[in-house]
Amino acid sequence: MKFDPETLETLVVEDEPGDVTTAHPYIDPDTSEKISYAAELGRSCSYEIYLEGRERETPAKITVEEPAYMHSFAATESYVVLVEFPYRIDPFDTAFGSSTVAECYSWNSDKGTRFLVVERGSGEVVLEPRAEAFFAFHHVNNYEDDDRLVIDVAAYPDAEVIDELYLDRVRREPPLELSGAEIRRTHVDLASGDVEHKTLYPSHFELPRVHPYRWGRRYRYAYGVGNEESPPETMSNQLVKYDSEEEATTWTPECFPSEPVFEPRPDRDGEDDGVVLTVVLDPETEESALVALDAESMEEVARADVEQTVPFESTAVSTAKPTNRNPRRCHPSVPREPVRERPLITSGLGARGFEPRSSLRRWFGSGPRGRPFEPSSLAGVLPG
Ligand SMILES: [Fe+2]
Repeated sequence: MKFDPETLETLVVEDEPGDVTTAHPYIDPDTSEKISYAAELGRSCSYEIYLEGRERETPAKITVEEPAYMHSFAATESYVVLVEFPYRIDPFDTAFGSSTVAECYSWNSDKGTRFLVVERGSGEVVLEPRAEAFFAFHHVNNYEDDDRLVIDVAAYPDAEVIDELYLDRVRREPPLELSGAEIRRTHVDLASGDVEHKTLYPSHFELPRVHPYRWGRRYRYAYGVGNEESPPETMSNQLVKYDSEEEATTWTPECFPSEPVFEPRPDRDGEDDGVVLTVVLDPETEESALVALDAESMEEVARADVEQTVPFESTAVSTAKPTNRNPRRCHPSVPREPVRERPLITSGLGARGFEPRSSLRRWFGSGPRGRPFEPSSLAGVLPG
């Protein structure tokens, strides 16, 4: 969608495929191709993997009975991998059942986690091994290692974390009951389809970022939010620099940091040569600040106070002014007034305003004699 920057009037609504999509498209660092996926819901469901551009291409369309909730996906030089956690949507429910898309998903650990490995060149599904059930929102990074795929995610034991992010749970006084995510590495053997897991970083790690030139490539560093205490008792209260070769480095500001953004220094090759940007929120003063850390040392190098609250997960600050304020002045506690009234994970869960009942038309088409289909015409036909 495009908006008028002055009036915020909607200017363009572009037609995107599917009903539920990812919050994290993949941009290939070599080809600049932008790859995304969407799930189409209806009597027949499918995943579409498509290339965004002037002319949209759809190299792969995969039929599926119950699409899984996949907030992100894996892509490497030659493959796209949809990791289907057993948190699946009942397409019948989207048409006739629950009132929100989120309520149409349910967890079934018996189904395990399926890795749909799609060849980027042909669009063919070349492997679809299954492993035990686990859940993740975010892929940390993924790459090819000779004859196997390496898939790193911020993994939870199950999808309970989604319920934990509803505001009535978030607003509870401490200690909050929060699941932690570990960095979990999965090896998928491209010859045999065998799947193996191991834990790379056992403490809570979420909202991962790597150097943009390393997306889909072998990497050493990843930045994310974490917690001083384990398991987490509050919203994330530190930033973590994961290092695959040495111990992790943390930065603990005594307030609440948002998703870190790694910005590389122009014209430099070092994987951690740049800054990490984050917006920290002090719940006592209800003020935020944009903070820049040296990505190598994770030490603060610059700060711009905002003098107002910037919602979490936003790094767009335009009213900042620089100060030399002591960075460790904040007081840890739970934010008093969370800003949004919806679950915090709406990205990819109907973020485009998808309404479950709109898929009725896809199930039944037009009504009798070409009249538009009206859900009320099903009265007496369907079970109550
Ligand atoms: Fe995300």
